Amino acid sequence: MTDLETLEGKVAIITGAASGMGAAKAKLFAARGAQVVATDIAAFASEPSDSEALVVETLHHDVGDEASWDSVVRYALDHFGRIDVLVNNAGIYKPLSLVDTDLANWDAHYRVNQLSVFLGMRACMAHMPSGSSIINVSSVAAMGGSPGSFAYGSSKWAVRGMTKLAASELAPRGIRVNSVHPGLIDTPMIAVNGEEINRMVSAQIPLGRLGSPVDVARLALFLASDASSYITGAEVVIGGGI
Ligand SMILES: NC(=O)c1ccc[n+]([C@@H]2O[C@H](COP(=O)([O-])OP(=O)(O)OC[C@H]3O[C@@H](n4cnc5c(N)ncnc54)[C@H](O)[C@@H]3O)[C@@H](O)[C@H]2O)c1
Repeated sequence: MTDLETLEGKVAIITGAASGMGAAKAKLFAARGAQVVATDIAAFASEPSDSEALVVETLHHDVGDEASWDSVVRYALDHFGRIDVLVNNAGIYKPLSLVDTDLANWDAHYRVNQLSVFLGMRACMAHMPSGSSIINVSSVAAMGGSPGSFAYGSSKWAVRGMTKLAASELAPRGIRVNSVHPGLIDTPMIAVNGEEINRMVSAQIPLGRLGSPVDVARLALFLASDASSYITGAEVVIGGGI
């Protein structure tokens, strides 16, 4: 890590932070000096003892709900006075092929994976000073067309596109917007694939292993920090070469 990869003095909102990559980001960001507002619709497990001294506030938050975003923004401003980093990380993955995708599956992905990113960016941007950073978590599913997860893939393509649009609109304000595209990362989300499929996919990963939540948290740290101050509108794939 370079000295620039500190988040000292920055306030970060991270969604979907009760599990997987969101939890890893919250922990790493706090360890690098950020005051973190960690949000999730699910309950948070108690904090591990080694992070007791770190500033991580946990909040109940439904990312698909406009009023819920207002509460999170108000909380961050009331407690910390500013918002420098937004990580739109929360997501769901309920893979179905196009022919099997019903409206309920489509709407759920749209709401949690796509609408959330729009609502989050719109709610936070007015309060973000120049030098701030928004990180939208998309997927390698938005870099091509893999079969079997139509609504999920579509929502992640939308996140990739919204990132480009927001990056161009927010650049004059000095706010950077980038998307992160993880490959197969070892979190509770991938259990739905079943062990056999996950084993088969990991065997095809050039670096020979699944990604870990910390691998992705380190990339998010770089994009959140001033070390990446000239990067905006980028889409960064982190998939072990997949
Ligand atoms: N794990 C992978 O292989 C992988 C690959 C590519 C992209 N991603 C993306 O990475 C992000 C993090 O996923 P993860 O793998 O850590 O999964 P995870 O299931 O461990 O964590 C996702 C979190 O989002 C939360 N969430 C779900 N609905 C919500 C809502 N309405 N409001 C607020 N929070 C909500 C869940 O409660 C959970 O804590 C997601 O956007 C996911 O699509 C994951």
